[in-house]
Amino acid sequence: MRKSARIFFGATAAVLLAGSAGALTPAAAAGRVPTSAECHNKAHPPTNPAVIGGCIAISRKMGNCIACHAIAGAFEPGNIGPRLVNIHQRFPHRAKLRALLWDPTVANPHTAMPPFGRNRILTHKQINEVVDFLETL
Ligand code: HEC
Repeated sequence: MRKSARIFFGATAAVLLAGSAGALTPAAAAGRVPTSAECHNKAHPPTNPAVIGGCIAISRKMGNCIACHAIAGAFEPGNIGPRLVNIHQRFPHRAKLRALLWDPTVANPHTAMPPFGRNRILTHKQINEVVDFLETL
């Protein structure tokens, strides 16, 4: 009896731990886009800036980055732009990545990528959140 009680408690603790680990390691921290369900969870809307940025990246109304870029976990992404991987290696300086999102025409006047900041598609805050997300990739 005592032994089975201990096993039961152990199993419960494991479930509780797994649950809290899930809450502490949000989707974006795992290097993939969050799911639509995570982005639209009304009871627990995302609060982690990197997760919010991931939601902006997959949102058709906002970043819509996956119209052009493959990102881990994204469903049927486009391939007009390069796959977004190894962002830390590609952009060791956050400011450079931020500047690219603000206005990619500075680096390449003929790019197909929209100037998200200059054209006010995204706010400063939203661009920072997208950068937070990209840095998890
Ligand atoms: C209409 C297509 C399009 C959209 C939408 C788009 N991009 Fe791009 N992106 C490109 C193209 C094309 C390039 C290649 C560089 C160039 O054209 O100068 C690029 C380059 C990049 C790069 C540099 C990648 C590297 O490894 O050098 C990053 C980072 C990036 N885009 C992020 C984003 C993010 C984040 C979003 C959404 C907020 C986004 N892009 C939306 C087309 C797009």
